Amino acid sequence: MNLDELKREAAAQAVAMVEPGMRLGLGTGSTAKHFVDLLAARMKRETLGIIGVPTSEATRIQAASLGIPLTTLDETPELDLTIDGADEIDAKLRLIKGGGGAHLREKIVAMASKKMIVIADETKLVEILGKFPLPLEVVPFGLAATRLAITRAIEASGCRGELTIRKRATGEVWLTDSGNVILDAALGTIPAPEDLAERLDSVTALVEHGLFIGIAKTAILATSSGIKTMSV
Ligand code: 5RP
Repeated sequence: MNLDELKREAAAQAVAMVEPGMRLGLGTGSTAKHFVDLLAARMKRETLGIIGVPTSEATRIQAASLGIPLTTLDETPELDLTIDGADEIDAKLRLIKGGGGAHLREKIVAMASKKMIVIADETKLVEILGKFPLPLEVVPFGLAATRLAITRAIEASGCRGELTIRKRATGEVWLTDSGNVILDAALGTIPAPEDLAERLDSVTALVEHGLFIGIAKTAILATSSGIKTMSV
């Protein structure tokens, strides 16, 4: 199986875990996209009575086009389950997310859920987080000052690396669904994710970082030799 087939396989396993009547958080990215497709396919075969909160405009458009009933956290502030992908996953189910630039809404939705399940292909499992550049969503106002504060927080946590503002292929600065910019921090390794997360949390204009710690309880990893489920 190629990577995309593995992603679809992980998504299929997660769809099977959806129970009738659930209030679901719908993740963002290519793996979550498979989940939304397969969920809609299951809803054609059986009455599930689920309702979803999308974690991005892209997912909202996809889910709406497939006829999945949608709500918002304003109407439905508590969810049963969020299913989402990840850019990196370690053995403690600490994650890096935000490769698709949606980690702010993804974290808000996951935190409003009783449970988060991560779905991914096996390449996302890492020994140490940090090879994937850590996405940092920041308010555009005062960007240079925020960069400095972030650099200090990163260095105080024993990391170092370049901060790059995310751009589109056209060269325009990439804006999130909330109108913010993303700095990608190329750290290589993050020896103390909890410490770094705490230091980043204290940077005023940093709206949210892509470290998800203590949020996901289960990961469904599709490997070339079958499905591997990890729980903490
Ligand atoms: C989006 C995310 C995605 O879940 C993450 O980037 C994984 O994406 P993919 O499933 O395409 O590999 O965090 O912000």
